Amino acid sequence: MSNVMRVAVTGAAGQIGYSLLPLIANGAIFGPNQKVALQLLEVTPVLGALNGVRMELEDCAYPLLTEVICTDNPEIAFLNANLCMLVGSKPRGPGMERKDLLMDNGKIFIGQGRAIAAKAASDVRVVVVGNPCNTNCLIAMKNASGVPTDRFTAMTRLDMNRAKAQLALKSGKHWSLVKNVTIWGNHSNTQYPDWHHATIDGVPAARAVNDDAWLQGAFIKTVQERGKAIIEARGKSSALSAAQAACDHARSLFTVTTRDNWCSLCVLSDGSYGTPEGIISSFPCTTDGKGNWQIIQGLSMNDFSKAKAQITWKELQEEREMVKDLLG
Ligand code: NAD
Ligand code: LMR
Repeated sequence: MSNVMRVAVTGAAGQIGYSLLPLIANGAIFGPNQKVALQLLEVTPVLGALNGVRMELEDCAYPLLTEVICTDNPEIAFLNANLCMLVGSKPRGPGMERKDLLMDNGKIFIGQGRAIAAKAASDVRVVVVGNPCNTNCLIAMKNASGVPTDRFTAMTRLDMNRAKAQLALKSGKHWSLVKNVTIWGNHSNTQYPDWHHATIDGVPAARAVNDDAWLQGAFIKTVQERGKAIIEARGKSSALSAAQAACDHARSLFTVTTRDNWCSLCVLSDGSYGTPEGIISSFPCTTDGKGNWQIIQGLSMNDFSKAKAQITWKELQEEREMVKDLLG
């Protein structure tokens, strides 16, 4: 890794930004021995608030933080960036689905994709958090001419963490003992949280939970609708858990993840498992610690899983169709 890892964060004065920046500055992504610089992007009217965030970051005197750049210019924010965390975009409100944001938020990712291609470091990795994150990621990727497509990922890590927590709570075990949950498809209420290969304290999840009706019903529904439940409870969308998941996602890219405890990443589909090609879909993945991922091959999918996966893949195809004019 470089002497200083340059991390661009968009929407940095927003609610996720406020939870995310301290985590990054404290080494949550690159570990306790890696210096980081923060390159923060906001829209012009919010630069004042962003300056307040910069003052607070300085006042923390983080040992690992070398520099904080604040700007409303994507080409400055992404200059030489090794990691771009694309958070900046509108969150949904009560009664909305994430894809209702597509027309407002999608266009943000055209200019940002272009600016990444023009200015980011040659080893850049991109994590899209802003919703609807899968299709926004596709828009950024398609507009980042010259940047390899495998540099672009979107976040279902929050869904994976939520699924692990639900399985842990149901089985009475600690969530750190839950491994190999897969999120398939879209970060939306069609996503399919799949427990079939998961273990809890080394025991297959289905045996540990011993309640198939719950797994096939309430478990899936709770994970699919968790974002909405948080909006209803808090009046605002998830931020603390989203920031943690964004760091978990990025840390997985920069540390080794094996088949023993895989992660779910939204990446460009190559058709694995029958997923339609050319959408950004969530898959079970391993990582090599150098920013590269691979879709795990050879996992069995029963008819129940195949049917659930088809629903969410279809939604991603529909979203792609909705934004076809934004795809570069
Ligand atoms: P927020 O409204 O608090 O903050 C968003 C920030 O983005 C604002 O400060 C806004 O000024 C800024 N912004 C808007 N357009 C921008 C642009 N073009 N360039 C730079 N900055 C821009 O919202 P939040 O709660 O921080 O959520 C941000 C996004 O993350 C939302 O779309 C939300 O739905 C999404 N989200 C995704 C997940 C996930 O799991 N993938 C989880 C939680 C939230
Ligand atoms: C979440 O899953 O919490 C976020 O995507 C926010 C939302 O709109 O649900």
